[in-house]
Amino acid sequence: MTIPSQRKLLILTAGIWQVPVIRKAQALGLEVVATDANPQAPGLRLANHAEVIDSLDHDGMVELARRHRIDGVIAEQTDVAVTTAAFVAEKLGLPGIGYEVALAATNKWLMREKCRLAGIPVPKYRKAATADEAVAAAEAIGLPVVIKPVDGQASRGVAKVWRREEVPGWFARAKAASREDAVLVEEMMTGVESSAEGFVAQDQIHVLAICDKTKCAPPYSFDLRLIYPGIFAEEVHREIRSLNARIVRALGISLGITHAEYIVTPQGVRLLEIAARGCGARVASDLIPAMTGVDLIEARIRQALGEGVRWESPATTRCGILEFLMLSPGIVNKITGVEEAKRIAGVVDLGFLVKPGDRIGPAENGAGRPGFLLAVGASRGAVLGIAEEVRRTVRVETTAGAQITVAS
Ligand SMILES: Nc1ncnc2c1ncn2[C@@H]1O[C@H](COP(=O)(O)OP(=O)(O)OP(=O)(O)O)[C@@H](O)[C@H]1O
Ligand SMILES: [Mg+2]
Repeated sequence: MTIPSQRKLLILTAGIWQVPVIRKAQALGLEVVATDANPQAPGLRLANHAEVIDSLDHDGMVELARRHRIDGVIAEQTDVAVTTAAFVAEKLGLPGIGYEVALAATNKWLMREKCRLAGIPVPKYRKAATADEAVAAAEAIGLPVVIKPVDGQASRGVAKVWRREEVPGWFARAKAASREDAVLVEEMMTGVESSAEGFVAQDQIHVLAICDKTKCAPPYSFDLRLIYPGIFAEEVHREIRSLNARIVRALGISLGITHAEYIVTPQGVRLLEIAARGCGARVASDLIPAMTGVDLIEARIRQALGEGVRWESPATTRCGILEFLMLSPGIVNKITGVEEAKRIAGVVDLGFLVKPGDRIGPAENGAGRPGFLLAVGASRGAVLGIAEEVRRTVRVETTAGAQITVAS
């Protein structure tokens, strides 16, 4: 159903993960103003109005929003502009989570503070501004620790560190990846990782889907594969749902899609971090709708325009998989079989972010993942089978004779 009368939605950032968001808004009959710092961002070509602007330029964005007389503003499937969107909404009196809440939902240190003060169990953590402070923090917490930028994304600058002498080097890398030059040192929790995809509407905190994750090998810690529903006991699913609600309340997130990452430790479920936006890599925009029938992005857009979102529990829930298609290092010569693989039953979409001539290096963070696959099926075995069939169908030739590597 389209939204009557021409209204304008401001969508902050216009990279490949925002393309489905822009298309959805247009399908709802909205005029889209899209912004990105990169003039080549693919979403800018689709938008009705394209604006090249730094996603963190709060005042510039307010000026732009006023000039376009926008009716709503969102930042989806990326953390970078969540605070800017909240700032613009606040200044223009439009629906949003509020600037202070957005800060807590994007700054990992503030997030830990809010949770701790609300009585939610958190790992030991400390902020470090210098290498010496990071070493002192690691010693006080006890090695091994995780060192990460307070405001990072895609695991850039995140490392698991076991040795004291390695702390300064990883601290420097984390600091370089931080916009505000601040680093968090945390107790390293162990267990199976999970994420919970949720939605907050009219005081109700919903969780639509919970996955388990396969991670890369240390010292890095990015995701290789997510499978929904997560392979946990029912009581763990319940614990994740109730913890999710406590965390959303502790941070004061009043609306929108949420994407929270957890680790199921022997002591219980612990928060890694929560985001006030949907999970990237098209999970929120494509996978969750294919699994549950719930169009999260449409619901989010309607909220941004001040419409009440009537929430219904998903009618069906199928299994879903997001698998990152990893390639061993080399230069890409040729990629074939992608269109054929897209026709495999259950495949929602797949694609490569690299093209012939591009160099594949060893992946150190989420940005180093060259391809993705989204699929749904009746069971966990079914989605794993689809992933296997896709890997057999897609051929990637590289100078090193590389193949798609399999998450294990
Ligand atoms: N305290 C911790 N204990 C154990 N593992 C951790 C801890 N903090 C972070 N990690 C690991 O590092 C990963 C990345 O950390 P985090 O999510 O904070 O960074 P990010 O840049 O937001 O990454 P992403 O975008 O991939 O979620 C987590 O998914 C988890 O595997
Ligand atoms: Mg994370």
